[in-house]
Amino acid sequence: MIQVAPSVLSADFGNLQRDVEAICDAGCDLVHVDVMDGHFVPNLTIGPVVVSAIAACATKPLDIHLMVENNTFFVDLFAPLKPAYISFHIEEEKHPHRLIQKIRSLGIKPAIVLNPHTPPESVEYLLQDLDMILLMSVNPGFGGQSFIDTVIPKASKLNEMRNRLNPNCLIQVDGGVTDKNIQSLKDAGVDVVVAGSYVFNHASKKEAIKSLQI
Ligand code: DX5
Ligand code: ZN
Repeated sequence: MIQVAPSVLSADFGNLQRDVEAICDAGCDLVHVDVMDGHFVPNLTIGPVVVSAIAACATKPLDIHLMVENNTFFVDLFAPLKPAYISFHIEEEKHPHRLIQKIRSLGIKPAIVLNPHTPPESVEYLLQDLDMILLMSVNPGFGGQSFIDTVIPKASKLNEMRNRLNPNCLIQVDGGVTDKNIQSLKDAGVDVVVAGSYVFNHASKKEAIKSLQI
């Protein structure tokens, strides 16, 4: 069954505790936290003060998606919150293998993110060391954008690679995920989806999450 990680970016930040508790009670698998620094992406979100408030009320593991320059600095900042996963963009990291080892040494599962243009082959020699690979299906920076279809053949290609090199490595897709594209994601071999606006704009968060857990 596909795991669902609602993105807190689409929550009502005036009622953050209420919304984090709501997605956890509604049966999500992970709580996806988008950290943006205003440099790697043209948007700025939350730091450790707010993420620790999220960690305090979340009853599901955190999945921290870094969209930042200087990944190592941010890994050190968020590691004390004990997230299940920290993912970083390969486009912004000179020494991805070293950073994977560092994240793992902190007791956190390492994941790498690929922007829409980045080929799956870019992780071929890292796959053995990763717990998850996140394929962006929008340009990172904002919630509520539309799904970029080329992620489907890309996920299929990555699925073939991971089955060969590391079947334990999960494939995650983030951006524009809805009940309309979930079946093609499943068919392509995707294991985890991030969904922000679809879950938070739905009349029932429970129904929305269920419709993606296929
Ligand atoms: C975009 C973020 C996503 C985003 C997803 O940079 O990484 O997690 O919040 O939101 P939706 O599902 O609305 O595209
Ligand atoms: Zn994200």
